[in-house]
Amino acid sequence: MYGLNGKKAIITGAAHGIGKAIASRLLDEGCAVGLLDLDDGALAATGDALSAKGEVVIATCDVSSKEDVEKGVAAITAKLGQIDILVNNAGICKVGKLLDCSEAEWKATFGINVDGIFHLVRTVAPDMVERRSGAIVNIASWMGKSGVAAYGAYCASKFAAVSLTQSLACELGEHGVRVNAVGPGLIVDTKMRDESEVKRKAEGLPDALQRAQDIPLRRPGYPEDIANTVAFLASDQAAYITGETISVTGGLWND
Ligand SMILES: NC(=O)c1ccc[n+]([C@@H]2O[C@H](COP(=O)([O-])OP(=O)(O)OC[C@H]3O[C@@H](n4cnc5c(N)ncnc54)[C@H](O)[C@@H]3O)[C@@H](O)[C@H]2O)c1
Repeated sequence: MYGLNGKKAIITGAAHGIGKAIASRLLDEGCAVGLLDLDDGALAATGDALSAKGEVVIATCDVSSKEDVEKGVAAITAKLGQIDILVNNAGICKVGKLLDCSEAEWKATFGINVDGIFHLVRTVAPDMVERRSGAIVNIASWMGKSGVAAYGAYCASKFAAVSLTQSLACELGEHGVRVNAVGPGLIVDTKMRDESEVKRKAEGLPDALQRAQDIPLRRPGYPEDIANTVAFLASDQAAYITGETISVTGGLWND
């Protein structure tokens, strides 16, 4: 346990996969959580399922929209009060070569993966700065440290998430707010992974379990592996860590 009892957290993209696991883990730590997601049906189901663990507030929100983010955060703070932890997890991944990437796919990728962080931080962080306390964790990717064929738009957006993490850490550090990121590797049991695997199968590419054999720890990651690292980074156990992107990849990417 990381001493997060009584903290208030917002997690974006919390209806499925890694975001849901992060919400569950922070509830186990004694946090109250506000969940934002575009998928309102799944969000309601996740909210219901997790409410057995503690206080859960949900708000439907498209993180690529400034207005939606402002409304969603207001709905959560109206019930939870001031936010101590912000986890920018919502993201999409369009698989395909850059030369085949449509302008709409490129814009959607950046709208959610990059603008989403921008809108959330600008809505939530000013209060953290005023109180001189807060932790922000962005979910980037190992593809935010390395360009990969067929993931050009996604990689570029995740490099941007890593860079935003560093710049924000520099700007907010003197105000008592830490900003870090997690770079997941090959994580299974998520909607994004399932969708990506369908496309890879159609192209005759190896599946996640086959690819996991090339990972030093010889297994794929699970959403809980990421949630454990987020809980650590959000806590005072990480009090002297800011601007970092911690790879959680089983050794797939070492730097
Ligand atoms: N699964 C992996 O292998 C992997 C690897 C590296 C990084 N990541 C990153 O982890 C994060 C979570 O991915 P996941 O694998 O759990 O995927 P997922 O698809 O299971 O979860 C993503 C969530 O984001 C939500 N979302 C999508 N667009 C949104 C929007 N506009 N506004 C609000 N919510 C929106 C979805 O509804 C979903 O609940 C993403 O940022 C992803 O890029 C995942």
